Amino acid sequence: MKIVTVVGARPQFIKASVLSRAFAEDNAVEELLVNTGQHYDDNMAGIFFEQLSLPAPHVNLGIGSGTHGRQTGEMLSAVEKILLESRPDAMLVYGDTNSTLAGALAAAKLNIPIAHVEAGLRSFNRRMPEEINRVLTDHSSHWLFTPTATARDNLLREGLPTERIFEVGDIMLDVARAFVADAERASTILERVGLVVGQYVLATIHRAENTDSTERLQVILRALAATARSVPVVLPIHPRTRAALRTSAEAEASLRELRVIDPVGFFDMLVLERNAALVATDSGGVQKEAFFHGVPCVTLREETEWVELIELGWNRLAPPTCEKSIREAIDAALGSRGLDAAPFGDGTTAQQIKRTLLAHHAA
Ligand code: UD1
Ligand code: UDP
Repeated sequence: MKIVTVVGARPQFIKASVLSRAFAEDNAVEELLVNTGQHYDDNMAGIFFEQLSLPAPHVNLGIGSGTHGRQTGEMLSAVEKILLESRPDAMLVYGDTNSTLAGALAAAKLNIPIAHVEAGLRSFNRRMPEEINRVLTDHSSHWLFTPTATARDNLLREGLPTERIFEVGDIMLDVARAFVADAERASTILERVGLVVGQYVLATIHRAENTDSTERLQVILRALAATARSVPVVLPIHPRTRAALRTSAEAEASLRELRVIDPVGFFDMLVLERNAALVATDSGGVQKEAFFHGVPCVTLREETEWVELIELGWNRLAPPTCEKSIREAIDAALGSRGLDAAPFGDGTTAQQIKRTLLAHHAA
């Protein structure tokens, strides 16, 4: 079975690591990995290929940054060319970025069946670019690989047929398990940043809704700066956030109270997450990784797709409209624990996806 996989953004390199490895181990699968180049800095892209032993991409389209239409359009046209040349049996895409949508659209127009990994997530907020990307990708897909029962229910509610939905668990759990030992061995991040196990907060911010509004970004940074007066806060800063902060003197002042570092590789991130007292984030992946490592989380958003973690008490929403509510959520979450549960499957997602695709191909 010939599969073209489209990746392009940091979380997609991470998710692809385990499934591309499963494909590579199987003679029945030929995978062509296409990197759109949506993320291109070494610490947003190259480092993940290296650390996670991802195969070198068949091609790097080098599309880079741009407005939504231009970026997605250029990817669409370039991916179509590859599909016409390679004529695969399936297209595989991950998550909800512009690279996901471009891969799905290119395949849909050529009647190539699409496998969507991380299908069915919904924030029910159509102002998020990711929500549009997810809905369109799900409704174009042939195999909907859902991480949770909630995701499955979302798809059924939208009228997608049950026989296309495969509840396989969350591939991020496979990834976390696959690399934890390597990360513990290789990472020196705690010493480098001067952090003590269990005595710091790890923060990440990159969501468009938070970075495109100076006001929201300042509220978040003020709340983190206030937290940093009692416990160190480390912020590996996404380039989008770094760019948004260039124009704000007030934000600069808050940043000086935090340990701001460049984006880190996956091994350093895993170690930062595992040893934190608390994670404060607007990232989808980081919310779940906090849970995998038993660390409480505050999500700096109005809503989350990962509602299970809120219900279990591992995660709290703190809308970035009010500094006080973020500080209260952080204070309440520090030292707390949620209920024991396993809403994301058993860490065998990559193998389940591979088996499902091969079984359908053979049928
Ligand atoms: C994208 C995804 C988002 C995902 C995130 C993961 C979309 C619409 N958004 O957001 O869903 O959660 O990736 O991190 O696809 N930049 C650099 N160097 C890089 C990459 C980006 O400097 O290597 C800067 C550029 O200024 C760019 C900005 O970051 O304009 C935003 O990058 P972009 O890929 O458009 O979106 P993300 O915010 O990264
Ligand atoms: N991550 C990383 N280094 C960082 C920040 C995040 O390796 O400096 C990893 C993180 O562990 C998770 C993934 O990147 O696996 C999440 O990506 P991101 O937050 O960019 O996107 P999202 O998950 O919100 O789409």
